[in-house]
Amino acid sequence: MEKPKAVLFDAYGTLFDVYSVGLLAEQLYPGHGQALATLWRDKQIEYTGLVTTSNDGAHYRPFWELTRAGLRYACKRLALELGDAREQQLMNQYLHLSAFPENREVLQALKDKRIATGILSNGDPEMLGVAVRSAGLEPLLDHVLSVDGVRKYKTHPAAYQLGLDATGLAAPQILFVSCNAWDALAATWFGYRTLWVNRYQLPFEELGTQPTRTGSSLRDVLSFF
Ligand code: LAC
Repeated sequence: MEKPKAVLFDAYGTLFDVYSVGLLAEQLYPGHGQALATLWRDKQIEYTGLVTTSNDGAHYRPFWELTRAGLRYACKRLALELGDAREQQLMNQYLHLSAFPENREVLQALKDKRIATGILSNGDPEMLGVAVRSAGLEPLLDHVLSVDGVRKYKTHPAAYQLGLDATGLAAPQILFVSCNAWDALAATWFGYRTLWVNRYQLPFEELGTQPTRTGSSLRDVLSFF
C-alpha cells in the first residue's frame, strides 16, 4: 500500500500531555485529582458533541470556554470548592502542557522524509498557538488546524475535512494519529488511515470498526514509512 503523504495529529493527550493537569488537581484536592481530571475531560468532550449536534451549531463556543465549563461542572459534581484562584490555576495548567518526549524526534523524522505534518484539533487557535510555541514544535509542523474555522467539533465530518482542504490530499493518503479512541474511530469512518496510540492500555471503542493500526507511543507513526 502507498505510504501516507501527510500525518495529522490530534493535540490533547496525543501531542500534549494532559497528565500534569491531574497532578495539579491532586495537589489542590488530595484524593480527588484523578476523578476530577477524568470527569473534567469527559465533560469537556461531551460539551463539544452537545454544541455541535444541537440547533445546527447555534450554541458553538470555543474549546477554551467549553474546557472552563467542564471544569466548573466537574467540581460541582464532585462537591469540590473551585473559586477563582484555583480555576485560574487549573486553566493555566491546561494552557501550558508539556509535549510528550518522543514528539520532536518523530516530527523531525517525518520532516526528513518530506512528509507534511500538522495538528487537527478541537483546541482553539490561541490555545494551540501557546501549546505549540511553548513546546518549540512550530518549525516541525506545516499545519496547525483548529476546528474553530468551521465551528464544528470532531467528530463532525466538517472538522476532519479541514485536513483534506489544507493538504490537498485525499483522506486515504493521510495518516491521522490520535490517543483518543473515539477520535481514531471517527477519523477511520471519515476515510483517513489511522493510528490509535493507546498510551494507557485502554480498550478500543466497541462499535465494530478498528483503526488501521494501534501503537503505544508516537514512534509507531514511523512504522507506516
Ligand atoms: C483535540 C482533543 C479532542 O486536540 O484531544 O482535538
